[in-house]
Amino acid sequence: MRVLITAGPTREYLDDVRYLSNGSSGRMGYAIAQAALHLGWEVVLVSGPVELSAPPGCEFHQVITTDQMKEACERLFPGCDGVIATAAVCDYKPAVRLTGKMKKGGGPITVEMIETDDVLAGLGSIKEHRWVLGFALEAQNPRENALQKLRRKNCNWIVLNRPEAIGSEENSVELISARGETEENWSGPKSRIAALLVEWLAVHAPNSNS
Ligand code: C5P
Repeated sequence: MRVLITAGPTREYLDDVRYLSNGSSGRMGYAIAQAALHLGWEVVLVSGPVELSAPPGCEFHQVITTDQMKEACERLFPGCDGVIATAAVCDYKPAVRLTGKMKKGGGPITVEMIETDDVLAGLGSIKEHRWVLGFALEAQNPRENALQKLRRKNCNWIVLNRPEAIGSEENSVELISARGETEENWSGPKSRIAALLVEWLAVHAPNSNS
């Protein structure tokens, strides 16, 4: 099995030094990469900026912005059997990136923000025989929102987790299928959830070589 994994946050720049981002540590995605390598899979890891080192043995692609993540993923996905998208991608970016460093003017400022492209939805739309697994971090109406995302992004499965997962070593997740069924509930250290998820995919996800 050859799997594409997205991990970490993206950054969207206001000027050459300031950016908007989020608190994703990348731990879940890196733990999944590690677990997949352990099972003997080929791992293509596309990661935003995090403090973790790439697991030895993976094909590593460093990106910073959402546009870079999208470009790398669309180039690499056709060579893979499936994708696991754990990245906490910025939903908005400044409409313009200023050059240099914006000066203070003494008063409030307004920044126009536009939506970024959805990396996973883009991969879902070109998936053909490949499988697509997304993550959804939901605070309100978690199941309903996660299922809507699964359908909108053409995923085979979505892993629902809660905001407490951000930056934590632990996670508590529900694996939901495209039919809306709960396939599994797992909780514990992210490394354990990663191992269970990859073992589950080894049984249920199609491998284009087999
Ligand atoms: O941010 P959201 O809850 O929509 O994320 C759901 C899934 O979509 C996650 O797997 C995330 O990695 C992916 N995503 C993406 N590109 C975006 C937003 C989310 O790939 N712009």
